[in-house]
Amino acid sequence: MSKMLKICKSWFICLSIIFLTTFYPYGKLYSDPLQESNPDHFIDSLLSIMTIEEKIGQLNMFHWPWSAQDDSFKTVYEKMIRDGKIGSFLGIYGVKNTKELQKIAVEESRLGIPLLFAFDVIHGWRTIFPVPLAEACSWDLETIEKTARAAAVEATSSGIHWTFAPMVDIARDPRWGRIVEGSGEDPFLGSMIAAARVKGFQGDKLDDENTLLACAKHFTAYGGVEGGRDYNTVDISDRTLFEVYLPPFHAAVKAGVATIMGAFNEIAGVPMHANEQLLTSVLRNQWGFNGLVVSDWTAIKELQSHGVAADPAAAGMLALRAGVDIDMVSGIYLTELPALVKAGKISEDLINQAARRVLKAKHALGLFNDPFKYHNIQREQNNILSAENLQLARDMARKSIVLLKNSANILPLKKNLKSIALIGGLATDQVSPLGAWAGIGDTHDVISILEGIRGAVSPKTKVSFQAAYDSNGFENYGEFQKASDLVKKCDAAIVVLGEPAQMSGEAASRADIGLPGDQTRLIRMLVKNNKPLVLILMNGRPLALDEVAEETSTILETWHLGVQMGNAVADVVFGDYNPSGKLTVTFPRTNGQIPVYYNHKNTGRPPDFSDHYTSKYIDIPWTPLYPFGYGLSYTTYSYNDLKCDRRSMIINDSLLISVQVTNNGPWEGEEIVQLYLQDEVASVTRPVKELKGFKRIHLKPAESQKVEFLITPDMLSFYDQRMMKTVEPGKFKVFIGGSSENTIEQTFELMQ
Ligand code: GLC
Repeated sequence: MSKMLKICKSWFICLSIIFLTTFYPYGKLYSDPLQESNPDHFIDSLLSIMTIEEKIGQLNMFHWPWSAQDDSFKTVYEKMIRDGKIGSFLGIYGVKNTKELQKIAVEESRLGIPLLFAFDVIHGWRTIFPVPLAEACSWDLETIEKTARAAAVEATSSGIHWTFAPMVDIARDPRWGRIVEGSGEDPFLGSMIAAARVKGFQGDKLDDENTLLACAKHFTAYGGVEGGRDYNTVDISDRTLFEVYLPPFHAAVKAGVATIMGAFNEIAGVPMHANEQLLTSVLRNQWGFNGLVVSDWTAIKELQSHGVAADPAAAGMLALRAGVDIDMVSGIYLTELPALVKAGKISEDLINQAARRVLKAKHALGLFNDPFKYHNIQREQNNILSAENLQLARDMARKSIVLLKNSANILPLKKNLKSIALIGGLATDQVSPLGAWAGIGDTHDVISILEGIRGAVSPKTKVSFQAAYDSNGFENYGEFQKASDLVKKCDAAIVVLGEPAQMSGEAASRADIGLPGDQTRLIRMLVKNNKPLVLILMNGRPLALDEVAEETSTILETWHLGVQMGNAVADVVFGDYNPSGKLTVTFPRTNGQIPVYYNHKNTGRPPDFSDHYTSKYIDIPWTPLYPFGYGLSYTTYSYNDLKCDRRSMIINDSLLISVQVTNNGPWEGEEIVQLYLQDEVASVTRPVKELKGFKRIHLKPAESQKVEFLITPDMLSFYDQRMMKTVEPGKFKVFIGGSSENTIEQTFELMQ
């Protein structure tokens, strides 16, 4: 900026300060014309009249302790709001409750800066949609964006400004309970879904009244915790970090995500909340992220447990310097930063930088224009649990279901069977369908599987239920035999097994991801009755089902599908919807096979059953039970005529690939056509295949469609030995199909 310009800028700010401080009684920022005409100047002017304590107050987020024994905390918090010591809350919601606090902030504090209200709106507000891992299996980006949009409309109607979603952590270890919150193991699909959810939550214009600040979390590589044990150490190569875990965050930043949340874990010795290299050099300087970074719950304080900070002050200093702007509930910024600034141990510029980001987020929502725009009681009464949202929930849920096995063509069942045995306590469970992070979801809103089944069958069909097992899957005394006797008497059996919601999500890692309790023994007992039997899985992670899958002919993966679970399951079971879901995370055969994922390396001794000395196990097949991208339909699709429009392409060129997909069966359906590429020889080892494109197509019986993909050089790039992004000439393999394991192939050459 030229010297003259700098002088003018300083004069302008000074004049603004004089204007604001002499002609503007404090707390009346809202009609300041500056905020519309020149937001940056408005924020600079506001910062210039804030005390250091008020700036630090903006960096402080407290939790609203609903479960507190009494509400004495309210008096304390209200005073802190008046004193400008709290900038945001998480956990409080409802127009009435949030408006009360906002009024105190706006009308009773010195400057009247509005509060932000945040909440974990992970997969719905009151209309709870399928858990994110389930939604991902739809591969339907448009509907995924719609459910995020619907969640934003509902949550903003209840006074919420900011959601701590989307969780974009790539996860390859199903023991990790939080795998349920993300999109699975693939960075390409994870990136597309991250962008879709950011757009859904934030809408087109952040200052509309129904938009949420989105928050891509947990930055980063949280899904790489050793042993799948939550909060554990992450120790990965830079190449894995940049090629597997970072892409979805980069996609979220490109999609305009307003906020990022740090991860609890360290990476190779540096805890994320003290990781200036990733939080500032990569996230801000390389990617250009200009939003705000919020810590995870007490994660700044936890720098002491990590052993990189001797005391709270050191922890606060590390976090602020690394680039963490808001301290979630540890209170360290509030208590330690003033003294650190006064002692000259941290510069006030760092405080200004963080406070500016917070004020910009509030300005982006339009809160300096109208701090009560999210507190409209009519919206709260009209927008929540709408018929439209319930239909969307059912549509998303059906598309999230994955048909894993139907070898005897038992599915779909007829609606007019004389009798159906419905076995398994999860079939009447109205809590678990809400899944992990159910927010303010209400169990009374949930259609259980029993209700869905009973609602779908003919009046003459008798549906008899037997719980058989308790909430942890253990046999209710004597009920396995009763269940077996019931199955014997019925025309068909539907057996619901899997995990209650509390077995996945945060702090819910499982060392053994088999069916819980006695459920395996139950299914093995029931299949012996040789009756048409459908196994329905309700779970928040891949399960190790080797024995079960061997002995069961029909398996439907239904995850935790939200309030419309029962209806969606019935739609698929009775053929009102032809299942189209595809797994976005690999199912191992046994625990010992973990981690197993599709985009693995070839190794120097790739598995070869005919050669003893190759990479495999001696006790189980090395292949997964169900691979990434896998999912059956009631019809079958064939792939033919895979063509590249030329045999080779030059760098900075592109190449068109086409394939003919045909519906060979009696059912119309949706097929997710998947494109994988392999760089056969490069300066570093490359995965045996990587997802680089997909298309959801609809085909009527006997219909055939040509599907095309454009290959561009960026799809062929990787990080070389110097960690420089590069594209190298050579041969590439193209795989296209309805699963990562069921493809047809072609090759092309990339020329210099
Ligand atoms: C939790 C989670 C994070 C969540 C936050 C606020 O510990 O790690 O995903 O958004 O706290 O609830």
